[in-house]
Amino acid sequence: MPRTDTGPRPAPPARDSPPHGHDRVLGRVVLGVTGCIAAYKACEVLRELQRREVDVHVVMTAAATRFVGPLTFEALSGHPVFHDQFALGTDSDIRHVSLADDAEVLLVAPATANTVGKLARGIADDALSTLYTATRAPVVVAPAMNSNMLEHPAVQENLEILRSRGVRVVEPGSGHLACGWLGRGRLAETDAIVDATLAALVRRRELTGETVLVTAGPTVEDIDPVRFVSNRSSGKMGYRIAEAARDRGARVVLVSGPTSLRPPGGVELVSVRSAEEMARAVEAHFEAATVVVAAAAVADYRPAAPSTDKLKKGEGPLALELVRTKDILRGLGERKGERLLVGFAAETGDLLARARDKLTGKNLDLIVANEVSTGFGGDTNAAVLLPREGDPVDVPLASKREVAERVCDEIVRLRAPAREPTPTGPVAS
Ligand code: CTP
Repeated sequence: MPRTDTGPRPAPPARDSPPHGHDRVLGRVVLGVTGCIAAYKACEVLRELQRREVDVHVVMTAAATRFVGPLTFEALSGHPVFHDQFALGTDSDIRHVSLADDAEVLLVAPATANTVGKLARGIADDALSTLYTATRAPVVVAPAMNSNMLEHPAVQENLEILRSRGVRVVEPGSGHLACGWLGRGRLAETDAIVDATLAALVRRRELTGETVLVTAGPTVEDIDPVRFVSNRSSGKMGYRIAEAARDRGARVVLVSGPTSLRPPGGVELVSVRSAEEMARAVEAHFEAATVVVAAAAVADYRPAAPSTDKLKKGEGPLALELVRTKDILRGLGERKGERLLVGFAAETGDLLARARDKLTGKNLDLIVANEVSTGFGGDTNAAVLLPREGDPVDVPLASKREVAERVCDEIVRLRAPAREPTPTGPVAS
């Protein structure tokens, strides 16, 4: 409807302006609201975030606008609400991209089964789902739905996909649901959602300024042009650590042996094949590194004299002479300086004793100890984190991304003394 008044109108808030009444902003959160009866509770979540000095922008799905009008969120947030995927932003920018860039955390609360499914499967057909695929910000999802919907294998699988990508799922609570049921599925309490969002906001800056050098995957040692000696490492653990460190603000260099994994975005990937190539690549990036995480399963031996011609079979047995490769991590431990060194120990017995020997023998600050049977090759892992200083941390079976988060928690804890006072501390003003 055209405006009929001609009087002065307050200027729309600039993209950088803080929320009403706040001159100091902890960070910028994009709050995605989806179509569920709990949509009204998103107003309380928004208010509580603002009380904690967070600048909140709101994105709504079409269904959400049928429960709460965009005007309500616009008035509360002090920013235009994004619900039309095709509407341009204030500077004719593409809103789902500009908001995705600006977001420091994307919080979806409440998240319906439909939206959880779209995010998990990469369907991008509205303002919120396009923004999700366009953002690099950490994501927090607070589902709310009927108990049977929540327990449906499709929904559980989708939530698991999101968790394995590093999305923090704030578990729904139990109680009376709008549909009349008594059971699990109601939106988590506002405090739990706000705490998870603030934790994500702080976490994303915890490793800013750090350069994390990660080794991952197996190495491949050639016998001849068609045969090689290698091991069963998939590289997944190292890749998940690289992603988790990237998401906490670090510059990440990932030196990887051959794997079938997709290169993580925003990470500098250096592909290598043999232990010798890995040693050279690590050497080239060691100087700039402040943290090294050696997750690669480096061959301890290689064929003494790889043949340039394909070996021909004979009648009798064949003996292959193997010689030791360089222990990359041990070499780094001898000249680590102020760097933090993290190693891995995959064992088949005497786990903690052997891991402790490697921790001290290689002059490490932290070792991730796991049984070969739980971690090698799969998507999950269970581990014990043994720091040189402090108590061991038991990490029960979880997705490798979740294990990577616990490793990063320890890295942050152990790096804290070196980071204080931080030039770009965890709380920006
Ligand atoms: N490592 C390395 N260079 C090597 C071998 C191992 O950097 N040539 C690193 C691995 O990335 C891992 C740790 O050292 O972080 C593993 O220690 P290691 O004692 O070599 O364990 P294993 O290779 O399992 O050997 P062992 O048979 O002695 O248990």
